[in-house]
Formats: sequence, C-alpha cells, structure tokens
Amino acid sequence: MIAYNKESKIFHLKNQSISYVFGILKNGQLGHFHFGPKVGDDYDQGLFRNSVARPLTACCFEEDQAFSLDNERLEYPTYGTTDFREPAFQLMRENGSRVTGFTYERHEIIKGKASLEGLPATYANVPDDCETLKITMFDSVIGCYIILSYTIFKDAPVITRSVRFINEGQEDVKILRAMSTSIDLFDSNFDWLQLSGAWARERHIKTRRLCEGIQSVGSVRGASSTNHNPFVVLKRPSCNEFRGEAYGFSLVYSGNFLAQAEVNQDGVSRVMLGIHPQNFTWHLESGSTFTTPEVVMVYTEQGLNHLSQVYHNLYRNNLTRGQWKEKPRPVLINNWEATYFDFNEEKILEIARASKKLGIDLFVLDDGWFGKRNDDTSSLGDWHSNTAKLPNGIGGLAAKIRDMGLGFGLWYEPEMINKDSELYRKHPDWIIGDPDRRLSHGRNQYVLDYSRPEVVDNIFDQMCQVLDGAPITYIKWDMNRNITEAFSRMLSSDKQGELFHRYILGVYDLYERLTSRYPEILFESCAAGGGRFDPGMLFYAPQGWISDDTDSVERLKIQYGTSMVYPISSMGSHVSAIPNHQVFRETSLKMRGDVAYFGTFGYELDVAKMSEEEMNEVTDQIRFFKENQKLIHKGDFYRLVSPFEDGGNTTAWMSVSKDGEEALVGYYQVLGDVNNGFKRLKLQGLLPEKRYRVNDEYTATGDTLMHFGILIKPSNLIMPTSDDRSGDFLSYTYKLKAE
Ligand code: DGJ
Repeated sequence: MIAYNKESKIFHLKNQSISYVFGILKNGQLGHFHFGPKVGDDYDQGLFRNSVARPLTACCFEEDQAFSLDNERLEYPTYGTTDFREPAFQLMRENGSRVTGFTYERHEIIKGKASLEGLPATYANVPDDCETLKITMFDSVIGCYIILSYTIFKDAPVITRSVRFINEGQEDVKILRAMSTSIDLFDSNFDWLQLSGAWARERHIKTRRLCEGIQSVGSVRGASSTNHNPFVVLKRPSCNEFRGEAYGFSLVYSGNFLAQAEVNQDGVSRVMLGIHPQNFTWHLESGSTFTTPEVVMVYTEQGLNHLSQVYHNLYRNNLTRGQWKEKPRPVLINNWEATYFDFNEEKILEIARASKKLGIDLFVLDDGWFGKRNDDTSSLGDWHSNTAKLPNGIGGLAAKIRDMGLGFGLWYEPEMINKDSELYRKHPDWIIGDPDRRLSHGRNQYVLDYSRPEVVDNIFDQMCQVLDGAPITYIKWDMNRNITEAFSRMLSSDKQGELFHRYILGVYDLYERLTSRYPEILFESCAAGGGRFDPGMLFYAPQGWISDDTDSVERLKIQYGTSMVYPISSMGSHVSAIPNHQVFRETSLKMRGDVAYFGTFGYELDVAKMSEEEMNEVTDQIRFFKENQKLIHKGDFYRLVSPFEDGGNTTAWMSVSKDGEEALVGYYQVLGDVNNGFKRLKLQGLLPEKRYRVNDEYTATGDTLMHFGILIKPSNLIMPTSDDRSGDFLSYTYKLKAE
C-alpha cells in the first residue's frame, strides 16, 4: 500500500480507491502532490508541482527563481521562509527565533498502526488492516525531530495522520502551534461543511462557499463543544448525498481544536486540523517529546452519504473498543426527566419495576445520588451515596435492581466540584482558576484541575469504592461546564499554556483506567447533552448522549447532522414525556419512538405513571427495536431527505443490513399539509434484483424501490372522523424484508 521511489523522492500511499502522493522537495521539505482518486505510479515531481517563476515571490535558492514555497503545495508547512500562509506548526527557540527548517532525514514503512501514547486513536484489528509510513524530519540548528505518521487503511478511503515532536537538542524549545494535519489541495472550488449549534441544538449542518482568506471553526472552551464539532468536509458544490467529490477531516480529540481552510492567491486550499493554537504552548524540554492527536481524512467520489458510511464503519470497527463494541446495547431507562433531583429509593424502585415489565434492560440513576445533593448547588466531588435519599446506599439499590433482572447504571460528573463539598473544603486549590481573580461558575460548579495526577487519582479511588461495592453495568459520564480563568496552581509559569491539553490527557487517563479495570461496564459520554461528542470520546465510551433536547422534532436535525460522521450505534436517543421538557411540544409516542429507534434507544420518563395503553405501545416499541437493533446499529445508514433543506418539513433516513436482506426506513413530517400532491420516497442501498416485502403489505424489487420509490400516505387524506387522525408530527416506519 505504501511505496517510495528513490529517484523522484515520491511517496505514494494507495489502495483500491484512493491515492495520497507527496515527496521530498529540493530544499528537503515535503511537498504535497495529490490526495484523491487512485492515480498511477507516476514518479515525476514535475507532474505534480507548480514550479514556475511567479512575479514578486520570495525564492528559497539564489539561483532558482521558480522555487518558492509560496507556490508549492506543502505537506507539513513551517513558518519562517517563503511560505506566507499559516503554518502547520511553529516552534520558538530560547533566543526567541521562530524560524525553523526541518528537512527529510529518513522514513520507515510498517504493517499495522501503533497506538498514540495517552491519546485515543484508530487502530488495526489485524496488522493487515493498514500500513503506516513514518517520516522523520530534522532541524539540525535546534536538534529537534518531527515524525510525521501516515496510515492508509486497506479497504477504506482513509488516511490518518499524527505528528510527534522530539527534542534531542541542547536547548529547550516552545511549541507554539502543532496541528495534526495540513494539506494543500490544488484548487478552491469547494463548499465547506461544518456541524455547528449550541446547547440543545447540537451539530446542525451548515455549508458555505470557500473563498480567499481563512475560514475556520474551533473551540477554546476546553471541550470540543456543542458550538462546533471537530469535523469539516470540503465538497464540490455539485456533490450531494450520493454523488460527487468530498473530503472529510475528523479530529480524534475532545479538547480545544481548530479546523481551518486558507485559500491563497492561486486558489490553493490549505486545510488543517489540530489543537487550537489559542492558549496553547508546550514547553519541549531537551530530551522530551510531544504527540499531537490523530486526524482521520476520508476521500470519496460517491457523495456525502458514502463519506459518512466510511466514518461509521471505521469508528465502529477501528475506534470503539471493549466488550460493548460488538454486544447489543441495552435498552435503558434514565430517571433524569422523570424525577430530576427529587427521588428516593422507593420512587426509583417503582420506576425500575415498571420498566422491567416493559422489556427495558437497564435502569440508569442520574444526577443526585451522592453527597447531600438535592439540587445543583452541592456535592460534586463527593462520590459516595446520599443516604438521606438512598438509605441502603448505591450498593443496596443496585442489588435490588439487579435482582429484578435489570442492569444498573450510574451518573457521574467526575471532572467537576461544587464549593459546597467535602472535597473542596479539603482541597480548595484543586480547581482550575487564577487565585488572584474572581472565578466564574457554571451551574454553581467549578472544574477540577485534571492536569494534576493527584486529582485524577483521588476521583479514580472514589469511583472504585462505589463500583467495587455495587453491581454496576453502565456509567453516564457527564460534564456540564467549560473552562474559564484557565490557570493551574501546579503548573510552572512556562507550562500554563499546556493546561488545556494536559486537562484532556487527565480525562483520557481516568477513562483508560476505568475502562481497563471495569471492562464489563458500558460507558456513555455526555456533556450537558452533546457538548463533547467527538471521536476521542468514542475510543472510551461507545455511545454518547447527543443532546439534552429530547423533543422528537428537534432530534431530527440533531440526529441527521450527527450522522454525518458518527455511527448510529453511538447516538444516545431516548423517548421522553410530553409536553416535552425543552420545547414543550406534544408529539405522539409513535413519533418519539420512530425517531429514537435510530440511535441507542431508551426512555427518559416516568413509565410508572403511564396508562395501560401507553405501556402496551412502549412494550411493542421495545420489542420492535430489539428485533431491528442489529440492522440499525450494524447496518449501513442512508440519509434520504434532509431537515436542513426545502423548509425542513420532512426528514427521511434508513438503515440497510450489511447483507442487503433487510432495511428499516424512517419518514417524518413536522407539520401537516393540506391536500398536497402525492409523495414518493426513493430508497437506497437495496439489492436491485431482490424482491422485498414492505411492512408485510406489498412486495417490490430493490430496483423499483430505489428508482421509483414508495408512496407516502398523505396526512390530509385521512378522514377527520377516522381514529387514525394525524395532522402535525407524523411519522412512518417501513420494514423491508427480502423474500
Ligand atoms: C446534563 C445531562 O445532559 C442530563 O442528561 C442530565 O444528566 C443532567 N446533566 C444532570 O445534571
């Protein structure tokens, strides 16, 4: 998969569908030549480079008017010579110089892929899955090395990249910027697609035309954030879901990030992704190393849907780890929206008993079970049972729930602390914050300084005490505020710029320790909903709560946008009560179920208060989900109608089993329409020749279903006298089974 041609000094990473080509330029730096469809073994730099003399350029060599980095497309651009675009990295010497000159030193090609120390990353299941190229660059003035790692996967149009800095020189240097990838695409005829939003409306799809200058999204909040996701796509303007060129860039990281494209005077687009340089510096002492997070780059000519499927498969098979990667996920019930903080053991047992009858697998006890917590003003940091509410402690409650035949899950917010807590009274200096200034709170809480190993140790020990004493099979790991007044009382002044990254390394460390010690526990990440829903989290927690907004209409956009990169099996989705607690909308139980099926599926309401009719419907929903869980979680997902287009009144999507034998379609209409024309929904991914039975009502071939479509029953044709009234908030599911 990886070749190096000595004469032309060209590296070519290639599989069935893509090529990634770059080479060593005349000055020893690396030039980027091609990332896209597979190309031939053309080992001639002249074919790929823009080496012509241009007016007013600064040139690298005195005798050569045509060699300017300003004209070159570069592989990991440096600051300081003839390239005036933003560099991928920047180092500062003790004398203040920011000029560096790393040149090619050597390379090696290895089977498989090494892990990244302390960081989440994709992995090979067997060494033959992929091949890795490691290129060592050296700056002889400062004695520093940079190792650029590239992995190409055998059966997927995927290249991953990460970078390691090694200081073997005599002096310390400061890393001012260290992106994980940088790539100069030949032109700028692209739309830039990002996933943006806010609390309760996470990951909405936004697109804009790329143009000269810099355009970017990022986060400096200490978490990847609800506002922007560490993922962007550059797609041709004509590219749609099923046709056309698109490049995806996804950062396997949960902290501050920057995703940026810079279009220069020649229309070359420099795309880079990595740790946000704002507030970031790293003191690279002589003898030390620094590793960037990994970026996963995907290229396709088959449209956005294919791009998403590539990410889904990779993140399901080569990022998610542990027992829960393969096992069917439990249908859970979470008590948060049912009780908030107002519960006691009897109330919890009542919900659990009712849940068991409905076929639910797991009961999750949310916020409020610890310390003396009855609202959001106290006890974060005191991870022992609130015995005023739970006289038998978590151990006693969990055992009772286990004896009912349910799993038991517990909520934690391990990174946070309230001032009203035993932990704060003992260790007031463990919070992040400048001691000379007033500190901002978020939801009355402060952030523990996870850059300090003793803080992580303390929380780990506290969690183990509970987990060792109770049959716990699931943890919801929440994180409800971002970092302000960023200052660590432990870090020296020259290391304060490391706080945000060290913080995330501390979070990963705790996750690693817990998941290794308790491999049977299913972790669900959460950050006030979807405030840290990123590939980094998926490495530890195979599912995440994608939003605090549980309204089924709002969820259409959130789930649709999230599916752009994240697999359906990773999306925490629950049926909740009406009126909905976020938007006060009333949708049918059917629609709430039909939307939540396309996720991990669970409930978040007081099932003990349901009518018999509702309970019967819920029982049917759970049975239906379990029958289709494998198809939904392991099949291929297709987006059919976008809630972000044409007024957003309809949304449709479907999952098709890997063997094409079954499919499940979800169709949703927000507002009823009046006497409108007939609608047909064209399906995707079916076997053209196969005949499918649709909802046990009729049969049609895959070809016909894909190219002519299924008729959607119009809401307005249902007679007002009929029981089957519809109107607003309609949903249909169609189950297809090959005969
Ligand atoms: C925010 C989460 O997103 C909710 O699901 C819930 O766990 C609350 N925190 C509890 O405080």
